[in-house]
Amino acid sequence: MTPADSQAVVLACADPRLGAALEYVLATPGKQLRARLVRASHQLLSEDPCDGVESVATAIEWLHSYSLVHDDLPAMDDDALRRGKPTVHTVYDDATAILVGDGLQAAAFALITREQGLSLDTRIKLLELISSAVGFGGMVGGQALDMAAEGAAISLDALRQIHSQKTGALIRAAVLAGALCAEAKNVDLARLDGFAGAIGLAFQIADDILDVTQNSSTLGKTAGKDLAVEKSTYVRHLGLEGAREEAERLLAEALGMLESYGARGTALTDLAVAMVRRAN
Ligand code: IPE
Ligand code: IPE
Ligand code: MG
Ligand code: MG
Ligand code: MG
Repeated sequence: MTPADSQAVVLACADPRLGAALEYVLATPGKQLRARLVRASHQLLSEDPCDGVESVATAIEWLHSYSLVHDDLPAMDDDALRRGKPTVHTVYDDATAILVGDGLQAAAFALITREQGLSLDTRIKLLELISSAVGFGGMVGGQALDMAAEGAAISLDALRQIHSQKTGALIRAAVLAGALCAEAKNVDLARLDGFAGAIGLAFQIADDILDVTQNSSTLGKTAGKDLAVEKSTYVRHLGLEGAREEAERLLAEALGMLESYGARGTALTDLAVAMVRRAN
């Protein structure tokens, strides 16, 4: 079965409205940063192309897309614009948006489970890594903490925890997943873990900064949203300059972790720089 066939199997949906909403989400794939992290991390450790890497990259992007569809729901951030288009629940309805997110999450795990280009052992390790990253101790738990912190006075440590979970956990999983596909040694996994922790946090700090510095058409999502609902963000805690300095400090820390790889690490380090110093 080709990778395209496998995707078709796990995305097959009998309900036309749900199927249309799924197509709507997949038609605008975003910047694909997490897929690029999977590939770059794999390339760092292996010169051989690995058939399974693309399925893992796709699965992680599906999980990320699901998280955005739910993040935009009225019960969460209540956003009308995503990736330059009306959000799924505004085009369809809340129930369809909830179900398309649920379905994408299940399909992501099914795609990895079915991937014959990876050993069973690697697939189990990937499923363990990625399911923890999006679960209660990772993204979902972080989203709950994020909602609870709206309008509240929380410490910088608590904010770091929220950002590291809601956004950092899946970014970390993307970096480590690429490495697992290359059957990485523990020493490499430890370095990449340090890199990914710093980049994941810096990425969400950059998101907080862009919310106040860019307009909605550049972002493709509603600018100024965090201030309006008193989100706990790095900009709110440290001010714009303080948040920028913290993002740069974390970027330097992340790049330092990959120094020993020299030129082999360039794809990953260039991507890290682009993720932190981006315009949207
Ligand atoms: C946005 O992520 C949501 C956060 C986790 C901050 P991206 O900026 O990677 O969104 P897309 O995938 O390009 O739309
Ligand atoms: C989103 O954080 C994190 C997840 C979707 C897990 P935000 O709420 O800041 O993301 P945007 O700004 O809506 O993209
Ligand atoms: Mg949110
Ligand atoms: Mg949001
Ligand atoms: Mg944001």
